[in-house]
Amino acid sequence: MNRRIARNLTLMGLTILFAGGCMAHKAAMKGEMAKAGPPAEADAPLTMDVALANIDMGMKMMGDMEAMMKHVMMKQQETLALGEELYNDPALAGATRGLSCNSCHPSGGTTGGEAEIPAMMGYPGWKIPIPSLTNAAATFPKFKVPNASVISLAQMNNNCLRMFVGGQYRLPLNGDKSHALNMYVHSLSEGNEVAPGKMGM
Ligand code: HEC
Repeated sequence: MNRRIARNLTLMGLTILFAGGCMAHKAAMKGEMAKAGPPAEADAPLTMDVALANIDMGMKMMGDMEAMMKHVMMKQQETLALGEELYNDPALAGATRGLSCNSCHPSGGTTGGEAEIPAMMGYPGWKIPIPSLTNAAATFPKFKVPNASVISLAQMNNNCLRMFVGGQYRLPLNGDKSHALNMYVHSLSEGNEVAPGKMGM
């Protein structure tokens, strides 16, 4: 490629980045921090340009460290609250069985009963004891039989969402909803020892 064209393209890229940063900064100043990242349900990776625009926005806010910390805490509290809402939502991912996570794991504990996987596709039905989630997050990643592999907590949340809650689809692992549900289930393990792979409680 011609050197001048290459240089112009680089300049153009930087200008777009800068403009993106300024726009994000403006929104932040309005008190409604723009999210430069992927939209709520997207499973898109964090691309370099989005990451740089986010850092740029953060750097501009560094002028007021207290505001920055407040912002981070507010975002985390919002996410945790959303997670609790999703945990109690019987319509999560289009489910219609009238069950939420809370139906079997009330307030992160257990009903003490069993969940039934109905017989299908030539396999018998199984009854599985419902575990408490008060330390579940601290034991992931761990091996789960239906996945035939070691999985993350977010993947396990999706297992229950599909198998027990009756969700029509899995939450995209990189999306806001998965992160929020994950954060809430993680909060149930707060203060406990981290023990990846430890068997059920
Ligand atoms: C109908 C009852 C039922 C519902 C509803 C349910 N679960 Fe579960 N959950 C279970 C059973 C049974 C297991 C044990 C399965 C296993 O360990 O493979 C389990 C296991 C788990 C585990 C793993 C615990 C561990 O220590 O390994 C997590 C995390 C979890 N559920 C989260 C959720 C979330 C989040 C939801 C809502 C999206 C949910 N569950 C809805 C019955 C349920």
